[in-house]
Amino acid sequence: MDSFKIIGGQRLQGSIEISGSKNACLPMLAATLLLDGKGTLGNVPQLRDVDTILLLLRELGVDASQNGGDLTYEVTDQTVVEAPYDIVRRMRASICVLGPLLARRQAAVVSLPGGCVFGDRPIDLHLMGLRALGAEINMVHGSLVASVGAAGLRGAAIDLGSEFGSTVLGTMNVMMAACLARGETKITHAAREPEVVELIQFLNKCGAQISGAGTSTLTINGVEKLSACNYQIPADRIEAATLLIAGAITGGDITISNCIPSHLTAVTSALQQCGYNLEANGNEIRIDATSVSAVAHSIETAPYPGFPTDVQAQWMALCTQIDGDSRLTDHIYPERFMHVSELQRLGANLQREGNQVVAHGPCRLSGAEVMASDLRASAALVLAGLVASGETLIRRVYHLDRGYQKLEHKLRLLGANVQRVVDETSP
Ligand code: EPZ
Repeated sequence: MDSFKIIGGQRLQGSIEISGSKNACLPMLAATLLLDGKGTLGNVPQLRDVDTILLLLRELGVDASQNGGDLTYEVTDQTVVEAPYDIVRRMRASICVLGPLLARRQAAVVSLPGGCVFGDRPIDLHLMGLRALGAEINMVHGSLVASVGAAGLRGAAIDLGSEFGSTVLGTMNVMMAACLARGETKITHAAREPEVVELIQFLNKCGAQISGAGTSTLTINGVEKLSACNYQIPADRIEAATLLIAGAITGGDITISNCIPSHLTAVTSALQQCGYNLEANGNEIRIDATSVSAVAHSIETAPYPGFPTDVQAQWMALCTQIDGDSRLTDHIYPERFMHVSELQRLGANLQREGNQVVAHGPCRLSGAEVMASDLRASAALVLAGLVASGETLIRRVYHLDRGYQKLEHKLRLLGANVQRVVDETSP
């Protein structure tokens, strides 16, 4: 398992291009199960999670071939309906094949996705919505065994609201199934994330009839069939946020390009509240953190357009370097604090209080050997390593490779001293 070796202390400078969005790409790839004919996806990020879902889709009869960021797809076998545990257990987003399989093949066997290191991740809303469309779903030996009667799926009124707001993948799963259901489906308390909007645009380009994109009420009029199309994956807003914070934490001056500033307003306004200078220009955002003495700014995560839970860990790393006490509250995943103990090993002064952490800054961090645990916690350790004195060795960076394309390369282009230490003994 590879590691990152980081020598801290470099101020990042220069410009870097953001890669395609993991969380837009994964559901779009699952949606190919709904489609007839051959299509292409452009700007597909090269990530472990993309490799995983392609492995799963090939098991499910999808021909997919890649040439750099371009991917050609075509469903060539509609008979397979079982998503094997060995693949599903690697990535929770695999659950997104359930809706498309039910809609297109009237049956599905998908092993229950594992939990995550940051706590329970139920799928009750996914199942409630698909059952409302007429699916019968039972749990048999750890797998969801689902089927649709001869009458097929039929439209329904479905409320996906939860105490956490809504469910992103749940909205996508139910919406994809509703595309081929008979009649109208209305989903209330739907997720409004940009990745949901992109999936709607993709599906409508394939012939679906979905309205309400970006709002919490979606209306889907079922159609007979959907045809494959060509589509460009949008930039990854979480990678963009992570790199902006890299510029902030090192007191640097960087520009991120090929991003979508309107997807990032919760993070860019939080950075501005700290006193960092940001300016957006088209698909670029520049952050100038040189000679800024930032002030502490607390955040609370919320569904889009609120502060993303996927940036909470990275924000915590930044708060360790800012004068004052910052309170970070995660309402989406109250246990998403795997990064706390590892940041403390680097010298951070953090106090956990239930679903909150208070970061007392500024703290001089010193390099140490730390362990990556989940995707965004690992990103937080990289950010801390960029400012820790001496050498930080981050083990198990395969967690990072799940969601960041060549992060060490991007950071080196900005002047960071980051090397990947390849572990020849294991992949
Ligand atoms: C998506 O996960 C993202 N993953 C996550 O990003 C992200 O953290 C999350 O949305 C929240 O924004 C992908 O898009 C692949 P949810 P998802 O269902 O859809 C509760 C990353 O780092 N809930 O929106 O699985 C749940 O417990 C990953 O890129 C139910 O109660 O998240 C949570 O508290 C990590 N019942 C809240 O809703 C359900 O049936 C939001 O979860 C489903 C969810």
